[in-house]
Amino acid sequence: MSEPRRQHGPGGSTDGGEVTEAERDGPPGRSHDHAQEVLRLADVKKSYNVGLPTEVEVLHGLDLRLQRSDFTALVGTSGSGKSTLLNLIGLLDTPTHGEIHLLGEATRAMDDGRRTAVRGRSIGFVFQFHHLIQAFTALENVLMPLIVAGGKPSQKQRDLARGLLRDVGLEGYSERKPDQLSGGQQQRVAVARALVTHPALLLADEPTGNLDSRTAADVFALFRKFNREFGCAVLLVTHDPRLSSQCDRTVTLTDGRIAGDTAHPDEGHDGRPPRAAASPAP
Ligand SMILES: Nc1ncnc2c1ncn2[C@@H]1O[C@H](COP(=O)(O)OP(=O)(O)OP(=O)(O)O)[C@@H](O)[C@H]1O
Ligand SMILES: [Mg+2]
Repeated sequence: MSEPRRQHGPGGSTDGGEVTEAERDGPPGRSHDHAQEVLRLADVKKSYNVGLPTEVEVLHGLDLRLQRSDFTALVGTSGSGKSTLLNLIGLLDTPTHGEIHLLGEATRAMDDGRRTAVRGRSIGFVFQFHHLIQAFTALENVLMPLIVAGGKPSQKQRDLARGLLRDVGLEGYSERKPDQLSGGQQQRVAVARALVTHPALLLADEPTGNLDSRTAADVFALFRKFNREFGCAVLLVTHDPRLSSQCDRTVTLTDGRIAGDTAHPDEGHDGRPPRAAASPAP
């Protein structure tokens, strides 16, 4: 447990189970390299119902790289494969072909324990359908990734989780169970849960789909803060052009292929300096 954090980031340790104090008590140090590659896809294909008459290939050989400073929108029509892709990157499913590297580590050959460890430490996932645990309070749901990774959360971690609930506008709701929350409030709990580990990569599948525009803007600003301050790469699925235009880059999926990959770092929609000019946090 006294092993120091390795330089390659909060989720980058290569062992399967040990959790350092620093990993338990995040946020991670700010010394990470914003240019560090967090994700690389190499010719990734995905078919469903393999071997059956209904077999269908829905992703047809994707190549993509993200670094920690990336704040990227993933757009495309319904059925184009966005959620399928996020599930692969989030290690919830495996490609039929190709390789996915997370923080430099090839994922295809990982065993279940290693996949769970990498997912828990390095990836925050806001699902299209939020998947909260109904028996647990909002606060307990937010703490869940830390509990899974390291057991009983420390007071510091509980404070961090409460702070995140406050950040998403849910101060005072921490003891409520999901069925006592609106759909948009549940979605915001899921956002806080995804950020509580200070992940190297945030995968967010329509995270503002149930939110009014002002609350959506607050959630978006929170993602920005994590991107800038903690080097959390963001891959954000959205159908809302107002949100995608505020990202630094837009990747477009069309029928399971990357049809566009456009950088737009200089637009400054959020009134802050563009990504390239933003100085790393001290
Ligand atoms: N388990 C499955 N079995 C078979 N086909 C599936 C399965 N899951 C998804 N698909 C198909 O894969 C394609 C991509 O689905 P996916 O959910 O990734 O789309 P999406 O881009 O996220 O769409 P939306 O914007 O509606 O959420 C669709 O044609 C869908 O019908
Ligand atoms: Mg989807």
